[in-house]
Amino acid sequence: MSSSGGNLSHDRRGWFANFEPRGTYLPPRRIYCTEDMPFMLEHRLAKLAALFAFLMLVIGGTVNATGSSLACEWSVTCKGSLLPHMSGGVLFEHGHRMWGWVVGLLQIALTVLLLKRRRDVRRLPWITLVMVLAQGTLGMLTVKYQLPWFISTAHLLLGMGYVGVLVYVAYLTRPMMGPLPEEANRHQARVAELGASRRWIGLALAVLVVQIFLGALVRHFEATLACLDMPACSLGDYWPTGFEHRLHMVHRGFGVLTALVTIVAGVQLARRARSWPRLRLLAILAPLVACAQVTLGILTVLSLREVPVAVGHFAGATALWGLWIGMWIMTGSGRRAMAGGDGAAVVP
Ligand code: HEM
Repeated sequence: MSSSGGNLSHDRRGWFANFEPRGTYLPPRRIYCTEDMPFMLEHRLAKLAALFAFLMLVIGGTVNATGSSLACEWSVTCKGSLLPHMSGGVLFEHGHRMWGWVVGLLQIALTVLLLKRRRDVRRLPWITLVMVLAQGTLGMLTVKYQLPWFISTAHLLLGMGYVGVLVYVAYLTRPMMGPLPEEANRHQARVAELGASRRWIGLALAVLVVQIFLGALVRHFEATLACLDMPACSLGDYWPTGFEHRLHMVHRGFGVLTALVTIVAGVQLARRARSWPRLRLLAILAPLVACAQVTLGILTVLSLREVPVAVGHFAGATALWGLWIGMWIMTGSGRRAMAGGDGAAVVP
């Protein structure tokens, strides 16, 4: 199966200094994967875990929207049972926990696999495991202390961070097309083509994180329906008195700003990423998701917080986060971002 895996693993440190192909390499369009293992198992597992963690966030969005946050006690069980009757609030709250068990099991499998097969990802197997444990602990503490805003907001932000790190793991363990120097040269050329437009990704990410934080505050301080008029809060009043009203209006205003930054950043990137179809696609998708996100925000208010609309608004924010973090990771110019893992071998 593998022909030059050992050489490639040992060459890794040396090749980065010189991007020109050297030595005898296999022709392009060969796929690189880790030696002696089912094809890219860890990559697929990382992608699956990222998908499940994303769905975990969306399911988490249904818990508050349906008013089910305190439907179960703060322990692992609900109504004294691991498998209670799943109806009403229990369905959402305990369903969210059960999904968490699946994510936890996937994470354990991923950690074991990465530790056994991919020394190049270094601390990431442990970091992701600790993140998932901390996420579960924050979830329990949120219920124990009756939803304090800082724990519940930390729970949301850590969940987003966990998805981001899993996307990074999936990226690092990806199969590579073509020999390493060739892959690195191609990547280098694409990153160079982007020029300064990568900074737009950083800006879009920073603005988005602030907006997600503001959104979490709107929900936790029950400011969702503090302003029912549109676009003003009420009767032409754009800056009403009262903390909840102002918080709501700040989230609206910053939401429009976030969408504008997303559109400009997406256009800048799409224009510069002509020879990078995947990045171009993501860059075009981001402004579309941002526009849908603003629409869903408006509809959340106008529908007086219909559950599917509110959950859709949360899912949109998570999708936008996934898109920008994915673009940030794939346009990195560091050694690890370009090379993937040290344990690569060649599958003819
Ligand atoms: C790109 C723009 C936006 C992003 C990324 C965003 C993100 C978020 C997030 C993450 C939440 C927390 C949801 C949760 O924890 O369940 C939220 C809540 C909320 N957002 Fe936005 N938002 C945006 C724009 C807007 C706009 C323009 C409006 C209104 C015109 C709006 C109205 C709301 C409302 C009312 C809530 C509370 C929802 C609830 O209680 O379930 N958002 N937003």
